[in-house]
Formats: sequence, C-alpha cells, structure tokens
Amino acid sequence: MFLSTLVAILIISLVVADPIPQRGAVSEGPIGYGASTTGGGNGGGITVTSCSALSAAAGKGGNVIKIQGVLPGCGVIKVGGSTTIQGVGANSGLKDGGLIIKRVSNVIIRNIKFDTPTEKGDALSLDRATKVWIDHCEFKSKGKAVNKDYYDGLLDITHGCDQVTVSWSKFSDHWKGSLVGHSDKNSEEDTGKLHVTFHHNHWNNVNSRLPSIRFGTGHMFSSCFENTPTSGINARMGAQVLVEESHFRNVTLPIVTNLSSKVEGLATSKNNIFENGEARITKPAALSIPYKYTTDPAATICELLSAKAGVGHI
Ligand SMILES: *[C@@H]1O[C@H](CO)[C@@H](O)[C@H](O)[C@H]1NC(C)=O
Ligand SMILES: *[C@@H]1O[C@H](CO)[C@@H](O)[C@H](O)[C@H]1NC(C)=O
Repeated sequence: MFLSTLVAILIISLVVADPIPQRGAVSEGPIGYGASTTGGGNGGGITVTSCSALSAAAGKGGNVIKIQGVLPGCGVIKVGGSTTIQGVGANSGLKDGGLIIKRVSNVIIRNIKFDTPTEKGDALSLDRATKVWIDHCEFKSKGKAVNKDYYDGLLDITHGCDQVTVSWSKFSDHWKGSLVGHSDKNSEEDTGKLHVTFHHNHWNNVNSRLPSIRFGTGHMFSSCFENTPTSGINARMGAQVLVEESHFRNVTLPIVTNLSSKVEGLATSKNNIFENGEARITKPAALSIPYKYTTDPAATICELLSAKAGVGHI
C-alpha cells in the first residue's frame, strides 16, 4: 500500500514537473506576428568582412549573409528581400552605421551588434516592410552624452510595416528606443497594419518608446525594462497592446495610453511586475492573440534575459 502510493506520487510528480526553460539558448524560428519569416533560407550563405561586401550582398538580397567582426562607418545599408543577415560569434555587427529594410519582405536579422547609428539615423529601420524577424541583437548608442535628436531610433518600424517579431534582443543607452508608427497623421497607411510581437527583450537606460506604437497591434511578453525616466510602452492613436509577464524596474509610466497623441491607445496588462513606477491605462484592450506562445514568468525574467538575450547565444 505504502509502496504503491509512493510510486503513484512519483509518477504524478514526473508528469507535472516543469521542464527547465531552455529557450534562451536556441530559438528554432520566429514566433508571433513575424512567424512566417524565413529570410534567406538554410543555405551556407556568404561571409563578409567589409562595408562594400556587405552592401553589395545585402542590396542584392536572396541570401544568408554572415558579418564577421564589427564593421565601422558603413553608413546606412539597404537590405533586399528574402535575406538573412547574421553576425558570427559574439562580436560582429555595425559601428556608427545602420541597416534599412525598405519596401521588401521576408528578412531575418540575427546576432548583430548595432553600436550607435549614423547622425540623425536609426540603427535599424523598417519602412513598408513585411515579415521581419529580429532576434538576439544588441542595440545601443551613447545615451545622454548626446542630445535627444542627435540620433533617431534604435529600431523604427514605420509606413505600414506588418508581421514583425523582435525577440531576445537588448536595447540600451539611448533616447528614443523603438517607434512603431511614426506620425499621428499616418492613419491611412498604418491602420490595420503594424502587427508586432516583442518578446524576451531587455531594455535598460532608454528614455522612451519601448516601443511607442500608433494605430497597430502589439503583443509584448516576458521582457525586462529597467531605468526609464520618461515612458515605457506607449500605446497611441487607437493602437492596441497586450503586455504580459514582464518586469518593469524603475520605469516611469511603464505602460501608458494617454501620452502625447490626440487619441488614446488601448492596453491590457497581465501578470506584470511594476517596481518604482505605475502603469497608466485609460482604456482596456480586448486583444485575442492568434498564435501559440509560451511565456516565462515576470519574477525571473530579468535574470533569464541578462544571461540569454543579445548576441553570442545562437
Ligand atoms: C532609475 O533610473 C534613472 C534613469 O531613469 C537613474 O538615473 C537612477 O539611478 C535609477 N535609480 C535606481 C535606484 O536604479
Ligand atoms: C491621462 O489619464 C490620467 C488618468 O485618467 C489623467 O489623470 C491624466 O490627466 C491624463 N493625461 C492626459 C495627458 O490626458
């Protein structure tokens, strides 16, 4: 009797035991609104070590392009459709430069360090682009050593972009983080578009726009936000967001729906931790997420992302 009870308990505990989360180590592919992105496919691709080689290969598109090392002063490089741009190892990317994905579809950007955009520029800009997956990247500039408009955004997604997933990336030391929808006046182009998933991202010391989203639909989950003096997730002009299982530490207005636009946004906050900063949600969102996803808990997310987000993990 005693033994059979013990066996039963053992079997039950084996069945219900939570697996240790391993998702930080390897992501098999994008989840969320950008899930159908395949980029340049699974071929061996080519490796580039100079701005000119990167520019030529990226412009042509339709390939897997591996950047080896940090390329300085490339300016803003155009990326063609059905392309993957991936950094080699833990220290590859662009310094004082950026990438633009404009009027094309199906692009993957992974394991790239973006260290400071060009003057007035974005580190990564998506303009009229669809199906984009940004994964395990790092974005930063010089923080408050420069004035607010010296650089533009770290990751701007504008002009009716759609089906975008941003995952396992780090954003730090910058004024204007990520702008999804650039203007209150762009309703015609943006309404019904701008579906974005932001998950497992780590934000630190970014002044605002984590992201700011107008007109679109945003799903943000399992992310860590630290040290933001102005505003965090800013839903505006009827944009709808669902924010869940995230930890906001020392973030002023971690989620806000009535800031700096004529029309409010809508937000639903689920299982988030707010520490030193309160959400200001004036309208609830009724978003139903059309895909499967797995969250990691807010209580341990900052620790998980410190170890697993950014470059050097794929
Ligand atoms: C909170 O964040 C601000 C930047 O917004 C920073 O200056 C300050 O040191 C942070 N406070 C703590 C306790 O970390
Ligand atoms: C936003 O909403 C809050 C709470 O209802 C209100 O106190 C505040 O004045 C509003 N701010 C703006 C800029 O509309």
